[in-house]
Amino acid sequence: HCYCKKFIMVTSRLKSHNRISISTNIRNVKEYKNNKQESTHEIEIIKRRNQASRSLLIQVHSSKSYNDLHNYCLKFGDISSMHHYHVNNQQNYILVEFKDIVSIKEIMSSASFIKEDIISVKSSVLWFRKGQIITPQKNNQRKSLFVENGCALPNEKEKAKQLYNAKSISVQIIILYEMMKLTDLEVRLRFHTAHHLEQYFSRLFDNIKILPFGSSINGFGRKRCDLDLVLIPNTGECNVTSRLVFHSKLMNNNGRHETKEFLGILANSMQYFIPGILNVRRILEARVPIIKFCYNYTQTECDLSATNMTAIYMTELLNFYGEMDWRIRPLVITIRAWAKSQELTFDVPGQWITNFPLTLLVLFFLQQKKILPSLKILKSYSTHNDVRCAENGIDCTFLRDVNKLPLNYKYNINQDSLEKLLYDFFEYYSTFDFQTYGICIREGIQIRKPSRSALHITNPLETTLNVSKNVNFYELNRIISKTHDAIYALETTDKFESNSWGIMSLLKINNDNGDLKKSNTTKGQMKNIEEYLKNSYENSYEISDKFEVNE
Ligand code: CTP
Ligand code: MG
Repeated sequence: HCYCKKFIMVTSRLKSHNRISISTNIRNVKEYKNNKQESTHEIEIIKRRNQASRSLLIQVHSSKSYNDLHNYCLKFGDISSMHHYHVNNQQNYILVEFKDIVSIKEIMSSASFIKEDIISVKSSVLWFRKGQIITPQKNNQRKSLFVENGCALPNEKEKAKQLYNAKSISVQIIILYEMMKLTDLEVRLRFHTAHHLEQYFSRLFDNIKILPFGSSINGFGRKRCDLDLVLIPNTGECNVTSRLVFHSKLMNNNGRHETKEFLGILANSMQYFIPGILNVRRILEARVPIIKFCYNYTQTECDLSATNMTAIYMTELLNFYGEMDWRIRPLVITIRAWAKSQELTFDVPGQWITNFPLTLLVLFFLQQKKILPSLKILKSYSTHNDVRCAENGIDCTFLRDVNKLPLNYKYNINQDSLEKLLYDFFEYYSTFDFQTYGICIREGIQIRKPSRSALHITNPLETTLNVSKNVNFYELNRIISKTHDAIYALETTDKFESNSWGIMSLLKINNDNGDLKKSNTTKGQMKNIEEYLKNSYENSYEISDKFEVNE
């Protein structure tokens, strides 16, 4: 009977039938209490979470399976959209969004497991096995529901051609942004990943939710960026009238030790029971303990932390700044891309700058340009709907509704072109007195450096912290030196004399072959870089910006 079913649950392979029965709760995880009116960002998150709960990720033979899958799924209800992508040109997946969550429940109860020797965990990831082709129903809308290859990275040749043919550097910046920013499907898959984990953990605990944060949702992320996730309590209504109360265990989630223990337990169960989760690493000694893993169905590197509300509010703040002016996101993405191709940032943590503090540098520069207001100003215009408080009483209140800002902040007097802003960014930091001053987004002005760190960027929400504490003097000097190089490159750029002009030279993109310019790096130099990365990696979790330690 089981084998007639066409959907097969994707499961973890483990020879055990022991049922998990953990009776505990996480009531003391600091409350994510928000009975207030939601901001636009929060509404977007609610919309995306709802979309994820109505969606299934289904592995198919190829994109051609979509007709068959569509007809099969229609038996369970109306479909809103279908998005196809593939991983390494091998595994094909279609994310099917149903109109109604009831369809998901019906599909889940119709689907089966294929083997006996597995941990049977039902989740929103399935595969569509071969079977009798279902006669297509007349549905003219079907094609428009389908997006093929919705996660494709831009073709390097095409990218080089488009950048080369752009009319100006400002246009180049916009082209780059449009090519690099996350697609709708990528955002859906990030919320799907959070939902997949949440679905599993909800069987153990009644009051949790998992939210994506960071560059995946603040609008500064580029394709294939990592996915930051946080597990937080889902505060429901307490039924105070009920006389029957569940016996539960208390857990002090404010304590670092408890959070570490809790994440350790989650890490074990993720590793063994949750399908699609590979290469689980426990970074529990850091100031913010995290679990790193790879989500195999999307090949995304993920970090999961617990009760890290300041990071969520920081995401809201960065998102707010990104929304304020159309130039912000293209500029930040270009500067992030520049830093990556100039080897100022790396995928691994170390004694170099990372994307988050780099973004703060751009935002601070835009404050100096009077394009963005200080956080202090955003706080002064906040209303009772904006009051938020994170762990340890950190006040994260600031204006969430851009429409409530006075007109002079909403419509910028500064209308500099993207090209000018990019140039001025490099110029500003090439002469900045990093020795004496630190960057302060909250005040919107440079401050006397309160620490001996090479680079001081005050954490806008937790002002005692320096988000770039990990950056050493050598790396800071490299940043400064690269800003000089960038100024030179932009001043001497000439479209008619080379096959790489404008931001192409900053990004090392060449129109010859569309690939990264063949670098002159010799084998010996390469070895040095590897050695350098390895050395800096040592203890980097203790000091990198994400896990910074109090001064
Ligand atoms: N964050 C923070 N304080 C820090 C570091 C990070 O509040 N010291 C928060 C920010 O909201 C940041 C998020 O955690 O956006 C994720 O950090 P990280 O992954 O390092 O930066 P991203 O902005 O996500 O950039 P990337 O694309 O490189 O992942
Ligand atoms: Mg990130």
